Amino acid sequence: MFTKFNDGIVVKNNGKTLQIRIVNSKIINVFITDKDEVRKDTIAIEKRKHNTPCNFDVSENSDIITIKTESLSIIVNLNDFSIKFLNLEGLVINEDYNGGVRFYNNDIRCYKKLNEDHYYGFGEKAGYLDKKGENLEMWNTDELMTHNQGTKLLYQSYPFFIGLNKKYTYGIFFDNSFRSFFDMGFESNEYYYFGAKGGQMNYYFIYGENIKEVVENYTYLTGRINMPPMWSLGNQQSRYSYTPQEKVLEIAKTFREKEIPCDVIYLDIDYMEGYRVFTWNKETFLNYKEMLKKLRDMGFKVITIVDPGVKKDYAYNVYREGIENDYFVKDKFSIPFIGHVWPGESLFPDFLRDDVRHWWADKLKDFVNEGIDGIWNDMNEPSVLDGINKTMPEDNVHYLNGYKILHSEAHNVYATYMAMATQEGLLKSRPNERPFILSRAAFSGIQRYAAVWTGDNRSLYEHLLLMMPMIMNLGLSGQPFSGSDVGGFGDDGQEELFIRWIEAGVFTPFLRIHSANGTREQEPWSFGKRCEDISKKYIKMRYEILPYIYDLFYIASQKGYPVMRPLVFEYQNDENTHNIYDEFMLGDNILVAPVYLPSKEIREVYLPKGIWYDYWNGKEFEGGKHYLIDAPIDVIPLFVKEGAIIPKQNVQAYIGEKQIDELIVELYKGSCGEYIHYEDDGISIKYSSGEYNLTDLKFEYVNGILKIYINRIYSGYKNGIKKYKFVFKNFNKLDKIFINDHEYKAENYVIEI
Ligand code: GLC
Repeated sequence: MFTKFNDGIVVKNNGKTLQIRIVNSKIINVFITDKDEVRKDTIAIEKRKHNTPCNFDVSENSDIITIKTESLSIIVNLNDFSIKFLNLEGLVINEDYNGGVRFYNNDIRCYKKLNEDHYYGFGEKAGYLDKKGENLEMWNTDELMTHNQGTKLLYQSYPFFIGLNKKYTYGIFFDNSFRSFFDMGFESNEYYYFGAKGGQMNYYFIYGENIKEVVENYTYLTGRINMPPMWSLGNQQSRYSYTPQEKVLEIAKTFREKEIPCDVIYLDIDYMEGYRVFTWNKETFLNYKEMLKKLRDMGFKVITIVDPGVKKDYAYNVYREGIENDYFVKDKFSIPFIGHVWPGESLFPDFLRDDVRHWWADKLKDFVNEGIDGIWNDMNEPSVLDGINKTMPEDNVHYLNGYKILHSEAHNVYATYMAMATQEGLLKSRPNERPFILSRAAFSGIQRYAAVWTGDNRSLYEHLLLMMPMIMNLGLSGQPFSGSDVGGFGDDGQEELFIRWIEAGVFTPFLRIHSANGTREQEPWSFGKRCEDISKKYIKMRYEILPYIYDLFYIASQKGYPVMRPLVFEYQNDENTHNIYDEFMLGDNILVAPVYLPSKEIREVYLPKGIWYDYWNGKEFEGGKHYLIDAPIDVIPLFVKEGAIIPKQNVQAYIGEKQIDELIVELYKGSCGEYIHYEDDGISIKYSSGEYNLTDLKFEYVNGILKIYINRIYSGYKNGIKKYKFVFKNFNKLDKIFINDHEYKAENYVIEI
């Protein structure tokens, strides 16, 4: 009945075709169709991998086919093609409900039994961490500053989720770029379903022993971030808009005068001439080259916004070239589509086409060659201000790999293709440097091209809370590099809110202060001395823990793990963590519990099982309990895990200001601890050809004797750390200290070697 191929099987029955591909022993691709068509991947799937066939056995017994891999059994009922996934112990991990896949007119669905307690992931969704009981939709949407906890559609689409049950974990990635739906127990207590308004029933079942492994396997499929330039982890300042050029310089200078570290300044849409992309305003930015040079001399990087909409203007070369070469998205009558965005009537490059991306990349290359360091892609849902449902018509026409597709299919992936073009342009300009791109809209796989932020929030406490589950679910959906507009974009910022936001924001992967035009100015010094001092303290702290954050990015690039993690990611067996959305882990060692209500100087904090130390005063806590923690205005509750090793460095005004030779290694008491530290030049792509170092730092602590081991496990980068300064935290009894078997004496709990 079935045909076996080296990567799976194909069966036909009742006018339907089922293809099961074994991507590896834990990742199974299911494709079911009632048409004569071949399976298509979206841009989410990383192409260069997944072609090593893996061992599996297939057997057939009356109406049942059983496929066995090294980790799973997949049981297919040939009558209705319903599928069951079991682990090696025979435990059912996931099972179709009532026949599984159904085809309606232009609507496909897959029904599954609802056996899980929690569902995480789904990328950038408003609301809380766990999405059980909700119905969700994927359709990139510019909410124009009106979103709240209940908003269904936001800028990004990640048709991926993780199911957690007491006994198992798995993920499902629905590789379909049409408007898709996920009903996670909203309609029924017995089943959940996912489906789409078109396209194919093409999904991946992703098994993992725990959430960590599911994320690792999901990012094996959809790719992981490349190491970002280290400066993109620094503090970044933005506003819609800093104009004229003198204002940009004044802001930059103020950071330096006030000694508040800052790496990047953003230029929002007003730097352009009439919002024409790749131009400079002739009045307000007349001497932009001089401005760029001065910023560079002060150690600033510059990121400019580049939107997709190209102004309709015959005198404008980008428009003319686009029209002459037929590069723009068309309407259903094959006429270039025109919609309103900031420049007025605008046309939209069809970024799905290779030739269009190459053209855009060339334009971008010339533009950034003048001294731009990174690109911010906005309005790329694409947002069309006068469009039906804020975007272009779904029957607009794109071309992908030479084939015509409609906007209904292209919409959700448009921004990711734009990010791909942008990455190509930055690499054309500086082939040896790591590109940095920030994107508002996205589809799964965006992590290979760009960082993202959560769009137009507002200066409201609700939005400070909201950013936590949003960034955590993005992290669980393969995108580790995200952040929120610190201080809030819309509405006037307020002092206390800004303080609380910066306190939390410095621990989010992407740190950028941004605010809308017409709102109160929002720099760290805009709200008076108290706010300035507290902001400075926390921004400095970000620069201090930068080696730790950079290490987390290294882990993200290797395993796809989030930088900012929900507690359940680290403590899946502790049920109390399953629904925590207002605390998070920065990596596996630091727990952050932001204050996100006004006039609150105390916070309830749950600490998972184990021993924790209060970062500020060293107080020891036993986990597995809730505590009330004092949080005066300048304190965010922070806890470090026993046995933690936290690498730090001295603060700089901007990354690269000083040659850093010394690594400060904080050891927190515990019977043992281990940590791998990564180093490279922070800017070039040489790490990808081996120019990096990995150092294993380890300790054991028994009866007052501390033994530390420093072991270089990979050496490929010459300008790394030359000195270590060990700082001992909470070790109240230190009789003897050995470092690589040599005895050292600590002075004030510090040793420098
Ligand atoms: C959009 C962006 C915002 C930007 C503004 C002007 O609203 O989300 O960040 O400042 O457009 O470009």
